[in-house]
Amino acid sequence: MSAIKKDYKKVTTKSLIEMKSNGEKISMLTAYDYTMAKIVDTAGVDVILVGDSASNVMAGHETTLPITLDQMIYHASSVVRAVERALVVIDLPFGSYQSDSKEALRSSIRIMKESGGHAVKLEGGKEIKESIKKILNAGIPVMGHLGLTPQSIYKFGTYTVRAKEDEEAEKLIEDAKLLEQLGCFALVLEKIPANLAKQVAESISIPVIGIGAGGGVDGQVLVIHDMLGMNNEFSPRFLRRYMNLYEGMTSAISKYVTDVKSKDFPNEKEQY
Ligand code: KIV
Repeated sequence: MSAIKKDYKKVTTKSLIEMKSNGEKISMLTAYDYTMAKIVDTAGVDVILVGDSASNVMAGHETTLPITLDQMIYHASSVVRAVERALVVIDLPFGSYQSDSKEALRSSIRIMKESGGHAVKLEGGKEIKESIKKILNAGIPVMGHLGLTPQSIYKFGTYTVRAKEDEEAEKLIEDAKLLEQLGCFALVLEKIPANLAKQVAESISIPVIGIGAGGGVDGQVLVIHDMLGMNNEFSPRFLRRYMNLYEGMTSAISKYVTDVKSKDFPNEKEQY
């Protein structure tokens, strides 16, 4: 049996729910710029996440907290211009939805209008219920995000696995059911025990996309810079590196430096 069961010409929130009910796993990767998004889309990834991880991998911040709504819109609109097939989901950045539901709606409307993306993603469960309801009422699809929620890093204190204890696991299950009930079309579960993630995926009808949440969920997401090995300092257990671009790019660029210095580049055929 092939891993891809149906050729979706354009992926929608409905296609993802259909994939879950057909047992087809969903592929999701981040992208933050036009060129990368074109490659990711052409390769057949179902969902492109313009993640607030742009704060780390594009801007070099230690956390996802500093990135602004304007910066997210800039990244998202660059991605949207490149994409023909994938569903483009955009993170609401820290500070753009936590204060009240009206602000959450205003931020989501700006993202949808100014970037042309297809859905927004918010971190949290019960605490942000009113915001999710308001955004959904405006016709904007919402993806949830539970487990390790990096925008709350200073509350957690570490990036270690979440929901290992019963109390946190029970809250996570309740939150996942609430997000489904509110009308979210999918949910990301980050860095939680694989058994718990499987249990959540089996108990709700919307797709559960995991990162560090094992193989029992409905799809997987990774940060593109991590899976291409562009950053050799970040090596969590859940990460599979498909390339070592850090080494490949460094050696190509140092060869260029050598060629310029030695006057090998440009040669006669490379000039007018
Ligand atoms: O911002 C991001 O890249 C994310 C993924 C890790 C799910 O939220």
